[in-house]
Amino acid sequence: MKKFLAIAGSPRRGGNSEILLDEAIRAARDAGLEVDKLVVAELDISPCNSCGGCWETGECVIEDEMQGVYKKLLEADYVVVASPLYFLGISAQLKALIDRCQALWARRFILKKPLRDGHRQPRGLFISTAALGKAEDIVFAGSGQTVRALFSTIEIEYAGGLFFKGLEVRDAVKSHPEFLEETYRATRELIAGK
Ligand SMILES: Cc1cc2nc3c(=O)[nH]c(=O)nc-3n(C[C@H](O)[C@H](O)[C@H](O)COP(=O)(O)O)c2cc1C
Repeated sequence: MKKFLAIAGSPRRGGNSEILLDEAIRAARDAGLEVDKLVVAELDISPCNSCGGCWETGECVIEDEMQGVYKKLLEADYVVVASPLYFLGISAQLKALIDRCQALWARRFILKKPLRDGHRQPRGLFISTAALGKAEDIVFAGSGQTVRALFSTIEIEYAGGLFFKGLEVRDAVKSHPEFLEETYRATRELIAGK
């Protein structure tokens, strides 16, 4: 069974980006995929300290819950990452997870080791929410580029970003069924390979 990894980047449980991520999960379950959901803020993941250890081994020297996340990232067939917009970027918790993927960068580009066996090409989506309703879509440029950089580094095809504005309070997105519908549809398209 194909694996669908959902990564919730917000420290606010039940918030807008997590509600949308749960809609993506619903789409994945309806498509018959095996779903795994990570709530980054509930994992023990230290930031990268740039020790350079991964340049020698392709492994991160920090022993925390990121070790399990590497495995899940590399085994997934589909990855959906969700984050609130924080000062034009992603949440600090999610940024720590992404920075720790420097070990996979080193494995691939310094040590020239394959990240996966075979020719599997996972695909991924990024979902982000912001409070400002009238902001230009450019506010998501930085966070989108960060997630694209992650996907490109760990060889996940970036299938697109879903960016939703005007979502300030915790479950504001519940008043926007069209955002939920768009997320469900985009996830089914991701899985269908469109
Ligand atoms: C630390 C912090 C920084 C934020 N920065 C921005 C911002 O730069 N632009 C914006 O429109 N909203 C900003 N917001 C609002 C959140 O992006 C918005 O409420 C989002 O929908 C929260 O998603 P969540 O409910 O999944 O946590 C910020 C919120 C916090 C707590």
